[in-house]
Amino acid sequence: MPSPRPTIVNINLKALRQNLHAVRRRSGATGEIFAVVKANAYGHGAVEVARLLQEEGVGHFGVATPEEGAELRQAGIAGSITVLGGILPEQFDAVMEQDLTPALYNTEWAEALSQEASRGGRTIPVQIKVDTGMGRLGFNAGEAPEKIAAIAALPGLKILGVFSHFAFADLDNPECVRTQLATFSRIKEAVQAEGISIPFWHLSNSGAIMALPSALFNMVRPGIMLYGIPPSETFPRKDPLTPVLSWETRIIHLKEVPAGTPLSYGHTYVTSRKSRIATLPVGYADGYSRRFSNRAEVLLHGRRAPVIGRVTMDMTLADVTGIDEAALGDRVTLLGQNDGDEITAWDLARWGDSIAYEILCGIRRRVPRIYHHPEPDRSL
Ligand SMILES: Cc1ncc(COP(=O)(O)O)c(C=O)c1O
Repeated sequence: MPSPRPTIVNINLKALRQNLHAVRRRSGATGEIFAVVKANAYGHGAVEVARLLQEEGVGHFGVATPEEGAELRQAGIAGSITVLGGILPEQFDAVMEQDLTPALYNTEWAEALSQEASRGGRTIPVQIKVDTGMGRLGFNAGEAPEKIAAIAALPGLKILGVFSHFAFADLDNPECVRTQLATFSRIKEAVQAEGISIPFWHLSNSGAIMALPSALFNMVRPGIMLYGIPPSETFPRKDPLTPVLSWETRIIHLKEVPAGTPLSYGHTYVTSRKSRIATLPVGYADGYSRRFSNRAEVLLHGRRAPVIGRVTMDMTLADVTGIDEAALGDRVTLLGQNDGDEITAWDLARWGDSIAYEILCGIRRRVPRIYHHPEPDRSL
């Protein structure tokens, strides 16, 4: 096997399994888990993540595009794979070929899919999305019961679930959350009152799984919680989550420069003292944001070193003055733990004017993912 780049992402699959158990403790015995593995499982590697979750009994997965769904099918993921992102009729074939479950949110395309399924003598599983306040995709709440009934009557389609999505990932607006939950519950009651039976109703993202038991219904859709990260920096930490992903690099060049030395593009940083500067082989083409320029920190030997000057496409500088042990080839942590200190995804988000979600799925595919497999553990 060729040796990896000095810049790698470590994926701790044992942590993933522990986080799944934290989801299960919340969702209870009857709550099915629909694991959100879109965007390459938030940068963690969709195939490996879905494989471990499947081994652990998860039978439902969510992706954003048919291509993401096809990648999972080709890797042998057998459960339902819902395409959450919305598709055009031109993509129906791709969905049918891979036995994916499209999310439907308009009648015209539902009818078109029904016709295509019937022509091929097939029954296609679908999920129906309703908009309870996110304003993105979904039937309007007022018309949803009637539209769901109409789709339920179409040949060639089988409704697997009805779902909606919270507009506040961390539930930070209790009134909006209450309204969305009440609206979704009303739709469910109206549909059930018509005698239409739908296997799964689901609304809960990670935030709701951890903090809103009344929204669990009989399926939950965790994303960020599986990856061991809370949905906001200030989210109350009651669940034992362990970050799955860490990101590290190595020092590939080390030099001493005098005071007054300008560094990197645009010379936005000039040393104020004699300094030791480490060059790190990671840049914005790896997903290490240019916004981290002169703001982020890295860890080495359990100490913090500031990122100085502009982050460039493939390289970044850190000021390691005073960290006397720093040497060529040393490991440097960009995200994760290092000798008792830690840089979290939310720290990087703060330095990058972003959110942990974007930091994680922004780590490019050119950064090799190294998977650390858990020992079989029958006690969990
Ligand atoms: C429709 C839908 N459900 C669930 C999730 C998972 O959300 P979270 O990562 O906050 O758990 C997402 C994430 O964006 C989503 O778009």
